[in-house]
Amino acid sequence: MNITVEKANAKDAEEILEYLKLVGGETDNLTFGNEGMPFTAQEEAEYISGIETSKDIVMLVAKSDGQIVGLASLSRLPRRMSHRGDLAISVIKSHWNKGVGSELIRRVIDFGRKNAFEIIELQVRCDNGAAIHIYEKFGFKKIAIHPDFFKIENEYIDFDIMRLKLK
Ligand SMILES: CC(C)(COP(=O)(O)OP(=O)(O)OC[C@H]1O[C@@H](n2cnc3c(N)ncnc32)[C@H](O)[C@@H]1OP(=O)(O)O)[C@@H](O)C(=O)NCCC(=O)NCCS
Repeated sequence: MNITVEKANAKDAEEILEYLKLVGGETDNLTFGNEGMPFTAQEEAEYISGIETSKDIVMLVAKSDGQIVGLASLSRLPRRMSHRGDLAISVIKSHWNKGVGSELIRRVIDFGRKNAFEIIELQVRCDNGAAIHIYEKFGFKKIAIHPDFFKIENEYIDFDIMRLKLK
């Protein structure tokens, strides 16, 4: 399997939106389901072009044989929180446990270090063993629980707040 990780390109916009619908339908770990994100391909392409040289936001795509199989982003928070960045990551189910998620996180952390982020943080379902495992592997520590973070149908789900200090 030939996996590459690169910055998203505006040309990837349509495929990214399709990817998000697919991955959203595969797990209840993300903030959206199989409806994906409410953007047009043009809006997504403009967004990606706008962050191409950003030091505050990066979007990375993992591709297998040219097809998107994973996505990760790091977004700097505004103003007095700008020492912190929020990490988001997903990999399609057919490619779990092949190292794609770990490579995406490694690259996100690399971007964070190069661009003076001091803290990378994330929120993860308390029962998301695979994600918590890889975050801990890269040194993230749980700092709090956010109760009732999700409500899916009538079930409330707690999340762990985790962070990695780079400074
Ligand atoms: C979490 C996710 C990104 C991991 O991606 P991945 O490509 O499978 O990750 P990797 O293959 O690099 O690593 C998976 C690791 O988790 C371990 N693992 C798998 N299932 C596990 C479980 N239930 N409990 C603990 N560890 C588990 C694997 O053994 C592997 O460990 P290793 O790195 O020590 O070998 C992927 O499962 C995913 O996208 N899930 C759905 C969306 C999601 O949950 N995103 C995170 C939201 S916070």
